[in-house]
Order: sequence, then C-alpha cells, then structure tokens
Amino acid sequence: MAGITDTIFRRIIRKMGAGLVYSEMVSCMALHYDSKKTFEMLEFHPEELPLALQIFGADPVLMADAAKVAESRGVSIIDINLGCSVPKVAKSGSGAILCRNLPLLASVMESVVKAVTIPVTIKIRIGWTKQEVSAFEVCRMAKECGIAAIALHGRTSSQAYSGTADWDFIKEVRQSTDLPFIGNGDVKTPESAVSLLDSTGCDGIMIGRESYFNPWFFRDLLKYSEKTANSQSVENPENEVYNRAAEVKELILHQLEENVARYGEYSGVQKMRKFAAWYTRGLRGSARFREHVNNEETLAGMKSVIDEYFGYCGGVG
Ligand SMILES: Cc1cc2nc3c(=O)[nH]c(=O)nc-3n(C[C@H](O)[C@H](O)[C@H](O)COP(=O)(O)O)c2cc1C
Repeated sequence: MAGITDTIFRRIIRKMGAGLVYSEMVSCMALHYDSKKTFEMLEFHPEELPLALQIFGADPVLMADAAKVAESRGVSIIDINLGCSVPKVAKSGSGAILCRNLPLLASVMESVVKAVTIPVTIKIRIGWTKQEVSAFEVCRMAKECGIAAIALHGRTSSQAYSGTADWDFIKEVRQSTDLPFIGNGDVKTPESAVSLLDSTGCDGIMIGRESYFNPWFFRDLLKYSEKTANSQSVENPENEVYNRAAEVKELILHQLEENVARYGEYSGVQKMRKFAAWYTRGLRGSARFREHVNNEETLAGMKSVIDEYFGYCGGVG
C-alpha cells in the first residue's frame, strides 16, 4: 500500500503473523529514470520474506526491466498493480486502466513473466465500472500468460473505496479460474476473514486498511483460527485481557525509532504521526493525543508526548 507498507511496517506486520507482505507500488518508469527514492523502495530486511514487490507501468519492456531489478535484489514475488486508478497512475495508462486495453495488458504480463524466474502475480479489481467488468477475461488471460496467482479487490475502479466489497462477485471470479486466488476487501475482524475464505473458496485473503488501523489483527486472526481448529470455545479476541495500551505504546516507540533511523528525524517523525493516530484509536483521550502528536517535529518531543499520554491512559484498553 502506497505510503504505508515500507520496509519498517512490513517487518512489523510479518512479526504479527502475516504470511506474505507486499511493497508499496513501485513505478517502472521511475526505476528506468534512476529515481533514488524509488530505488530505496526496493530495500527490504530478510525478516520480511516472503515479500511481493509490486510494480506498475504500461510499457512491457520497462515493466520487464523493473521486474528483473527487483528479482536481483532477492524479493520472492513480482506483483503487477492492475487495481490503482488514482489520476496520476491512470494518466500513464497503468494500474486499473490497463485492464481496459487487454492486448497491451497481455503483452505486459507476458513480458514480465518471461523476464524473471520468480512467480509473477496480479492485483485486480472487478472492472472499470459495473457495466464494464473485466475480471473474468483478465483472469483467463493471466493463466495464458503464465501468471502464478491473482488477488481481487471486490470493487470496481469507479467505486474507489465507496460501498462494500462484493464477496459474491469474488466467489464467481474465483470459480472461473484454477489459479491460486486471493480475496480482498472489507476484512476487519478474524470472523470476517474466515467468512471471506469460507464463502468464496479463495485460497488466501489480503488485508489492506485493517493492517494499519490494527497491526495486531494478524495475531488475533491466528489465535482465532487455532481455537476454531481445536474446536475450543471462541472468545472474541478483543475481549481478552491484555494490556492493550502497553503494547500500543511499545509499537509506536519502536516504529518511531526505526523511522527516524531510516528517514532522518524530520521525515521519520512526520511519517509516524498517522500511524500513532491509527494505533491509538479507541483508547481513552486519543483525540487529544493525536492533536499533540501532529504538532511535534522532534524525536524528543514526540517521545515526551507519548510518555505523557500513556502515563495518563495507563492500562485502559
Ligand atoms: C492508503 C492505501 C494505499 C493503497 N495502496 C495500494 C497499492 O499501492 N497497491 C495496491 O495494490 N493496492 C493498494 N491499496 C488498496 C488495498 O490493497 C486494498 O485493495 C483495499 O484497501 C481494499 O482492502 P481493505 O478493505 O482490506 O482495505 C491501497 C489502499 C489504501 C487505503
């Protein structure tokens, strides 16, 4: 996820129990023009593996080059972004809009698959609009082009994030292909994760927003599925007694230190603001904490706001 899944966050999520993490989307054009910032997006820590490096672009040659560079760095999977429709990406003919040009899409997929030895996967949406559904055809072509797995977000591009993800549609597309299939959209609880798997026949699920609202989601899901597998009585993990505030504080401090080490004090602190706000959602007094955090520009200042807040918030979870 752009702006979210940098190497620091991916490592956190893997430690929480996610089976596979994806990079932010990386522009093949920016790699071609040697953008330093984009090359930094290829960096990862071995503890993240397996890691899918997501690329976007509409030029088969540049996409193949980007995939080769990523493979040489040691990533596990190349994922092609066919789901993003923000204007900057759409204008370049990349992302979701590439599914409106099937001959070019086929040539991009073929070219990337041929360029590397590691698996190449795609991430798609239902189609451009409900009237312009492309998922079935894209899945059929993906199989022909040698794509190894497909992830489907159950919304159209024109929906962006509005409405709800259509799990019935995910099931239909899943049934239309024998490629490994990952369902995505609106999973927010362990129960809904299992329900998406069970109701669609998907082989895996992909978690977007909940991963940064609640990185503990993965741990809770694993606990939940262990309990259901052992047919023990399942309590809602949210009701389990653990010191939520203490672990939130620990994670915020850890990610803050890592951010400052990687991006420098100013950017590291800036980048931490949104995560600190997300992780403290629902904790007592978190609205005021957010205000204070958003005014801090130094590591020392941020740490003192964190200490003060968690001293007050205590063990309330
Ligand atoms: C801030 C943000 C950034 C995202 N960036 C990407 C991206 O770079 N590549 C991608 O395939 N999907 C991206 N997505 C879409 C998510 O992967 C996912 O498909 C979508 O959020 C629906 O899943 P969810 O309901 O679990 O959040 C992004 C979503 C958000 C909210």
